[in-house]
Order: sequence, then C-alpha cells, then structure tokens
Amino acid sequence: MSIDPPLGLLAELTHRCPLRCPYCSNPVELARLAQELDTETWLRVFREAADLGVLQLHLSGGEPTLRRDLPALVRGAAEAGLYTNLITAGVTLDAARVEALAEAGLDHVQLSVQDAEAASADRIGGQAGGHAKKLAAAAAIRAAGLPLTLNAVVHRQNLDRLPALIDLALALGAQRMEVAHVQYYGWALANRDALLPTRAQLDAATAVVDAARAGLKGRLVIDYVVPDYHAERPKACMGGWGRAVMAVSPAGRALPCHAAESLPGFDFPNVRDHGLSAIWEGSEAFNRFRGTAWMTGPCRGCPRAEQDWGGCRCQAFALTGDAAATDPACALSPRHHLLAEAVAEAALAGSGFTYREPGRPPSPRS
Ligand code: SF4
Ligand code: FES
Repeated sequence: MSIDPPLGLLAELTHRCPLRCPYCSNPVELARLAQELDTETWLRVFREAADLGVLQLHLSGGEPTLRRDLPALVRGAAEAGLYTNLITAGVTLDAARVEALAEAGLDHVQLSVQDAEAASADRIGGQAGGHAKKLAAAAAIRAAGLPLTLNAVVHRQNLDRLPALIDLALALGAQRMEVAHVQYYGWALANRDALLPTRAQLDAATAVVDAARAGLKGRLVIDYVVPDYHAERPKACMGGWGRAVMAVSPAGRALPCHAAESLPGFDFPNVRDHGLSAIWEGSEAFNRFRGTAWMTGPCRGCPRAEQDWGGCRCQAFALTGDAAATDPACALSPRHHLLAEAVAEAALAGSGFTYREPGRPPSPRS
C-alpha cells in the first residue's frame, strides 16, 4: 500500500500557556519545559517534513510564542519551503514580536478568542485583561500585513453571542473565522457539564452562521462544524487517522492526532530517535487505525467508512473505553445514547469551571 504524505505538520512547541481554558484539548499530563525539544531538533524535523511532502506547518502549543526561539523556528521552516501558520492565544504577542515573526517569514496567524465580551472572555480564559491583549495582538498582526483567522471556541456559555463574535472578526480585519465547538477529551471532559450547548442554542447558532455566510460573501469565510454531541454522523477526525496530519508533542512524540497521548497501549515513536518518513509510513502507532481494515461493528463495510473513517478514536476511547469502537457520535453506534444522556445531564448542571491548577493533580471525568 502506498501512503500519501501528510498535508500538515502540527508542531506543539510547548505545553506552557498563560491561559487556563476549561476546554483545553492538551493532555491531562503536560510536558514540562525541560522535556521540550531544542531548536536544532525542531529545525531538523521541519526539514524532514518538507522532504516527506508536508506543505503546511502549524506552530501550536500550549502557547507557542512562549518559545524564545520562535522567530528562528519560523525562519528555518520558511527556508525549508513550508507554509507557516502560528496558532496563538495572542496574550504574549506585542507589535515587536509580531514584526520579528513576519520578518522571519511567517505566512499566517490564527488567533483565538474566548468570547466577544471582555468580562466573560477573561473568566473563560482564566486571565484578567487577556481579552484586551488579544485585541491589541490582532491589530499588530494586521499592521504587520499578516493574514488573520479568528478562532472562536464556542459552547453553552458564549454561543448566544455568536453574532457579536462574527462582528468582532470583521472589526479585527480577519479574512477567515473558525467557529469551533468544544471537543470533549483532554481537560475539556472535566468541564463537559458546564460547556455542552442545548439543541436550541445550536439551531440558533447554525442559522446565524448560514445568514452570515450569505451576507458576508467575499469579506469573511466562516468554517463551522456541527458539534458531535448533537450529530447523527461523526466528523472525519484529523481527516482520518494517519492520513492528513502528523502532530509532534513538545517532548518529541509523533502522534496521529494532538490528543492521542490520552490513548492507552501505544508506544508513540519519538522524533529524537526516528526520522519523520519512517514514523509516518512504518510505525505501528500510525498504522493501527489507518484505512478501514481495523474497523469492527457497524463501521465494517459501512458505505461511509472512507468518508468519516469511523470518527474520532480519542472520543471513542473517552466515551467507551475502547479506542477501536465506532465513535458514539454515529447514530449507528450502540453507544450513541451516551451523547443524548450527556446533553440532558448538562442542561441541569451549573456553569462553574474546573481550571487546571499548577501542582494540583487533575481529576477530570473518567
Ligand atoms: Fe462512519 Fe462507522 Fe458510523 Fe459508518 S458506522 S457512518 S463508518 S462511524
Ligand atoms: Fe484524536 Fe479525534 S481527537 S482521533
């Protein structure tokens, strides 16, 4: 079987982050500073990625701008011929840093916001004054001539302000907006009851997006995916396991998806020890759920098997304890009822968040 190269490399430069979003998708156990790959290793990984056929490099985290060597990493990636996209919360970006990154060859910035209202945004992100810093970062990004995508993670506590979030994207000069519903694995699972939207909220939000897409044609592109907990069929998570994206964790573990470290029974190869090409094509971890041969239950022989690739392995594990199960987001899954039950339970729950606390062991939902 010949294996097409990944389109994108997701380089998680660090797990450090000044914010404490309750829906963080990073693993519950975060890599420490001392475990992070050094500059030279990342630059080698970027060159190997370009040789493998990767076109797009997503510089992510945690908060990637906390790496002091970020301009050098951007420069090396650009020299390797990669399109570079910085995924940032923006609270540590000032005009000088943005200009240095643009000068190093950065192609694009994806900036996240937690809400359209400062008080709510700061509460969700867990940092007073964070929202104002993001607005200043957006201005600096546009002043440096960099294209901007605004990423709004939406949930029960901000979904009603979706029209204001779209207005914010326009006011900040974004050309693209991602309206991204929370995915419930990693730390987000601990906050599911406080975050899951109601069906009525979802329907209203979908109508808002439809109207905005029609009214803002040519000004703002809006990416929007219906959340799994209200879906009948799952999304093709990561475009399919081992098909479109390779992620590399701060400590160098090569992962078929950024959340895959939550899955037990894997020995993920490390880029310190192996080349990217050998990992992508030959590692057991990347091959385990690649294609359709591994599928069981309703996925096996399903006509949609090569469209959604059985959904999300991390969600299947989080909800069923079996990473090889059909994603319960699919109505054909015998566990599909778990999602409706979670939505009903969340509708009765309060709005308090469980934040990550330094030094305190996590106790997310298991
Ligand atoms: Fe997709 Fe599996 Fe559901 Fe078929 S049964 S639609 S392949 S998740
Ligand atoms: Fe890991 Fe979907 S998040 S496969």
